[in-house]
Amino acid sequence: MDYILLVIIAYLLGSIPFALIVGKVGYKTDIREHGSGNLGGTNTFRVLGIKAGLIVTIADILKGTLATQLPFLFGMNDINPLIIGIFAVVGHMYPLFAKFKGGKAVATSGGIILGVSPLLFAIILATFFLMLYLTKYVSLSSMVTGVVTVIGALLLQETGLVIVGVILTAFVFYRHRENIKRIINKTEPKIKWM
Ligand code: G3P
Repeated sequence: MDYILLVIIAYLLGSIPFALIVGKVGYKTDIREHGSGNLGGTNTFRVLGIKAGLIVTIADILKGTLATQLPFLFGMNDINPLIIGIFAVVGHMYPLFAKFKGGKAVATSGGIILGVSPLLFAIILATFFLMLYLTKYVSLSSMVTGVVTVIGALLLQETGLVIVGVILTAFVFYRHRENIKRIINKTEPKIKWM
């Protein structure tokens, strides 16, 4: 029962659609109707600018981080934080509060890694920005970062992180299906500010 309670709380936490809230409250804009239509930090940067993009990205990361802390906050130290974190990502992708159409799992997955291994988070953050600098594609950088997360977890010999890293990276690739097609067709937008 305790396990199910934490899973539900994590899912509801992940379901908070910060991109939708920041867009509607701060800018009277529904970002689902603009840019890629995705409820995520990247599309918020694209549609609403740096300030809104940063707020949404950080809030989406913290959803994952907070989810990994739930077992400790509720005094259930025997429950694996990684498993609970996964449900925050499920909530982020399929949010109860936004008709089950959410983001692409990147920032919230990063938040999970931050919650359990700040060292690996620093490595994947550096990877993401290096890839962004080299390719100018946020989506491609996100997917490569997912792969590097798994490689990093393997090098750190963290079995749980390897398994969860594979699951999260699978989510990221699955949610980027349209981006992958656009990259192949050379119609994926590149960032202009780096
Ligand atoms: O984190 C999502 C990003 O990788 C792609 O977002 O809006 O360009 O599809 P978007």
